[in-house]
Amino acid sequence: MLTAAFVDRACRLESPPASIAVTAFEVDPCLADRLAVTMKACAAQCEGAGIEFKFKIIRDDYILHSAEPLIAEKNADQKYNCAILNPPYAKLNSGSRARNALRTVGIETSNLYTAFVALAIEQMSREGQVVAITPRSFCNGSYFSKFRQNLLSASALERIHLYQSRKKAFQDDDVLQENIVFKVVKAKPQTENVNLSFSDSPQDTNPTTRNVPFREVVHAGDPHFYIHLPILDEDSELAERVRSLPCTLRDLGVTVSTGRVVDFRARDHLRKEPEPGAVPLIYPAHFEQGFVVWPQPIGRKHNALALNAATTDLVVPRGTYVLTKRFTSKEEKRRLVAVVYDPARMDAEHVGFENHLNYFHIGGRGIDPAFARGLALFLNSTAVDQYFRQFSGHTQVNATDLRNLHYPTREQLAELGLIYGVALPPQVQIDDAVEALLS
Ligand SMILES: C[S@@+](CC[C@H](N)C(=O)[O-])C[C@H]1O[C@@H](n2cnc3c(N)ncnc32)[C@H](O)[C@@H]1O
Repeated sequence: MLTAAFVDRACRLESPPASIAVTAFEVDPCLADRLAVTMKACAAQCEGAGIEFKFKIIRDDYILHSAEPLIAEKNADQKYNCAILNPPYAKLNSGSRARNALRTVGIETSNLYTAFVALAIEQMSREGQVVAITPRSFCNGSYFSKFRQNLLSASALERIHLYQSRKKAFQDDDVLQENIVFKVVKAKPQTENVNLSFSDSPQDTNPTTRNVPFREVVHAGDPHFYIHLPILDEDSELAERVRSLPCTLRDLGVTVSTGRVVDFRARDHLRKEPEPGAVPLIYPAHFEQGFVVWPQPIGRKHNALALNAATTDLVVPRGTYVLTKRFTSKEEKRRLVAVVYDPARMDAEHVGFENHLNYFHIGGRGIDPAFARGLALFLNSTAVDQYFRQFSGHTQVNATDLRNLHYPTREQLAELGLIYGVALPPQVQIDDAVEALLS
C-alpha cells in the first residue's frame, strides 16, 4: 500500500523521477504474493508516466537480511534514498537472533518497529528520507531513550502527523494507542521548525497543521530526548508555563519509584484480608477520592502482605507517600491519577506498594504530610495532565515521565496541600490553585 502510494505521488510530480527502483520486504508468503500484484500495478502506472520502474521483493526477515553481518557486508553498497514503512510491532527479546543481529550494527532497541526505523535510517544514503507510521510510544519513557537519541542525532525530524484517536487508525488490528506518521532526513542538520499536524483518524480529511520550533518538540538539555507534540497554540503556552516551574523532583529531594511488590512473584506471601504479621498491600484499586482507602473488598486482588524475611525488602516504613497509577483505562478521563497514603488512617508500621503504581518518597521514607498533599494535588490538576499528554500518547505513566516534569517549590507545594483536607477538593478548586502558581 505504502509503496503504491509513493509511486502514485511520484508519478504526479511536476518533474517526476526518471526511474524508480523498489526493494520491498515481506516475510509473510501470502502477503508477498499480493505485494507482487501491487508492484506490477505500480510498473503499469510508471510506464504511463514515462518512469522506468524496477522492483525486487525480498521474501525474508528484514532485520536478519539487513543486519546480519555477512549479509550486511554483501549489501554494503546498497543505499536507498527513500524508505516508507509501516513496520510490525512486537517486543524484541534480548538474546533473540534479531536483537543480536541489530547489535552488530550498533542498534540496541527492544521493539520491532523501532528496529525497522533504525535499520532503515542506517541503510539510507545522505539526505535519504524515511517516512514511517508507528505507535507514538517511542516518544517518551526510558525504554526508547537510546532510540530517540540515535534517531535525533542521525537525522533531522521534519514532520510529524498524529492520529489522535487511539482506536481508529488500525481498527482491525487492536492497536490501542495513538499512532504517528513521521518524516526524518538522514544526516541533515535539524531544521529550526518541525511541521506538526493532527487529525482524529485517517477518515478525517481536514487535519490541523502547525509549524513548531524544534526546541519545543525536544527540549534542550533533556537527558531522555522526549518528543513533545504541542499541536495547538495553547499547548505551547501551557508547556512554557509548566516548564518555567522552578523545581525538578531532585531539587525537592523526592524520588519516584515503581511499587516493589510484583504480586505473582510474591504469591505465597499475599493475604486476602489483614491479619497479624501482615502489612497493608496497596493496589490502584485502593485509590478513592484522593486517598488510599484500605482494606477493600477487591475481588481477586489482595489487601495484605505477610511480613517475613522474603518480603522485608518489598515494604517501606510508616509515613505519608504520594501514589500514582501506572496504568489508566482508556475510558478514564485523566492519565495522571494521584492519591495520598495517609498513615493516620492505617494501623501499620510498614506498607507494601504493588507494581501497578508509582510512589513518591524521600530516601525510601515518607514525605511531610502537607508537602505530600500539595504534590498529589499538583499531579491531579488539569494543567499537568494536559502537559503530560503532549509527550505521552498512551495510557501508561512511567516513573521517568514523572521525573521529567517540573514542579513548584517545596513551600508552594506545602501551601497547596493546605486545601487538601479529608478528600481531594473539586477539580475546579485544584485547577484554580495550580493555575495561580503557573501564571
Ligand atoms: C503493519 S504491516 C504493513 C504492511 C505494508 N507495509 C503496508 O503498509 O501495506 C507489517 C508487515 O510487516 C511484515 N513483517 C513482519 N515482520 C517482518 C520481518 N521481520 N521482515 C519483513 N516483514 C515483516 C508483516 O507480514 C506485515 O505484512
